[in-house]
Amino acid sequence: MGLSIVVASGKGGVGKTSVVAGLASCLAALGSKTICVDGDAGLRNLDLALGLQEQAVFDFNDVLLGRAALRDALVSRSDIPRLQLLAAPAHTPASAIDPTAFAALIGTMTELADFVLVDCTAGLDTGFALAASACTGAIVVTTPNQMALRDSARCAERLTNHSPVKLIVNRVQPRLIRLRHAYNIDEAMDTVGLPLLGIVPEDEMVSAAQNHNIPLVLASQKGAGSALCNIAERLMGRECPIPRRFREWKVEG
Ligand SMILES: Nc1ncnc2c1ncn2[C@@H]1O[C@H](COP(=O)(O)OP(=O)(O)O)[C@@H](O)[C@H]1O
Ligand SMILES: [Mg+2]
Repeated sequence: MGLSIVVASGKGGVGKTSVVAGLASCLAALGSKTICVDGDAGLRNLDLALGLQEQAVFDFNDVLLGRAALRDALVSRSDIPRLQLLAAPAHTPASAIDPTAFAALIGTMTELADFVLVDCTAGLDTGFALAASACTGAIVVTTPNQMALRDSARCAERLTNHSPVKLIVNRVQPRLIRLRHAYNIDEAMDTVGLPLLGIVPEDEMVSAAQNHNIPLVLASQKGAGSALCNIAERLMGRECPIPRRFREWKVEG
């Protein structure tokens, strides 16, 4: 029985889709069977980040409505065979999805995979409730700035029934922390009120890989690619301390 994890933030644009695509690819590359579900009904783009836009003919609403079998809607790349994607409907809003049926579908997928990661829509309304109520665990993604942190704190307050619930601080730039132009990692954890799962540095390879429709782990094993693989190791229960230079960012005053 696998673990279902909603990846949420409240605020849009902080890197939820990038984290889901990168983390799912790393989990699969490290040997865990991983299904990632695009929970952003109406505004999907996880298929693009994984280079699966041509294969993703069916979406989760097709499965819920009996128009496609789950095995036909799950698509994968030959170079990361343990990774599968279930796309979101491109034109159906979250308000039109039956939450009970969606939760049952996520439950079915936890029987097929070690990890089911659900990429959540921005905001804390219907789309968030749909994805959050279907999962047992949660990852809150934030960037180290005041607005994202406040929204992430609101998001974390809504995840009290989930376990584990952990924080990823994305797009971290040590230079900005040193200049006090960005919050440090301790401040981020205190503001959101969650334990740290990992830190992902600002890395131009994230958007470069996305624009080439290549999973980050295949494009770069440094920077954000390396950080996401370390996070994947931690999720798999392996010892993987946060690197020393990251810890230094954490205590930067
Ligand atoms: N660690 C990172 N370094 C550099 N750019 C990033 C990083 N994470 C995300 N991005 C970029 O930020 C933008 C928003 O990311 P996205 O994953 O779409 O956010 P969300 O899903 O939360 O709306 C994208 O252009 C993406 O390439
Ligand atoms: Mg997104």
